[in-house]
Amino acid sequence: MKMILDERGKKYVLKEGEEFQSDLGIVKADVLDNASVGDEVKSHLDHSFKIIKPNINDFIDIMDRRCSILIKKDIGTVLAYTGLGAGSRVVDAGTGAGAIALNFANVVGETGQVYTYEIRQDFAEVAKKNIATFGIENVEVKNQDIKEGIDEDNIDLVFLDLPKPYEIFEEVHDALNLGGWLVVYAPYINQAEVSYRVAKKLNFYDIEIFETLERGLEVRQQGTRPKTRMVGHSGYLLFARKL
Ligand SMILES: C[S@@+](CC[C@H](N)C(=O)[O-])C[C@H]1O[C@@H](n2cnc3c(N)ncnc32)[C@H](O)[C@@H]1O
Repeated sequence: MKMILDERGKKYVLKEGEEFQSDLGIVKADVLDNASVGDEVKSHLDHSFKIIKPNINDFIDIMDRRCSILIKKDIGTVLAYTGLGAGSRVVDAGTGAGAIALNFANVVGETGQVYTYEIRQDFAEVAKKNIATFGIENVEVKNQDIKEGIDEDNIDLVFLDLPKPYEIFEEVHDALNLGGWLVVYAPYINQAEVSYRVAKKLNFYDIEIFETLERGLEVRQQGTRPKTRMVGHSGYLLFARKL
């Protein structure tokens, strides 16, 4: 896969046989098809563009989606707090467009495996296409309602981003390895609270709920200070461990 990232931060994924068009000019399809990552190509307006290989974040920013996707601060928190690594086995639901499933697959590597459940067929198709386009093979997209059961066992992490996640905590407990993690992403406090109570009842350990806040700084002539605008809220994360 090849991509153009212009000096304004705009990203364009290049498609075989298609020319590139922007307000900075047009680059012909044959020029792009023959260009390699690292090359520089010129538009008809004599503007230079560099060809780069998209990393996972570049790809997620431009991939097709039909619903909201998890954002980096939350994905990063899940990866850091569960200590997910090469060879881990993950169950994820719902898939949506596949943002966190792609990140899980990226981290668990070729020796690990991700199973991601999506109840809607149209969303599952989009996710399958995104995963195939990114070129990662250790993710299986299952067009299934996870509440009808989890097919897998020996799982190191079950991640749930769907309504009433606590309805399947018992099945999650059965699917997890000892030391494995259940993580819930809940936009609403009441969903996080009920999840906490149900996890406690089922003897999960180390149960914690928190949210991660990310505040950027702006560097100006007059001084450096936090930006006025920030993402005020995305979701709460609940972590619980099987011991
Ligand atoms: C907010 S989106 C998920 C975003 C995704 N986790 C990401 O990484 O960006 C929630 C998804 O859960 C799916 N869903 C809801 N209930 C489900 C269920 N019982 N089983 C599987 N998927 C479900 C919805 O169709 C929707 O695509």
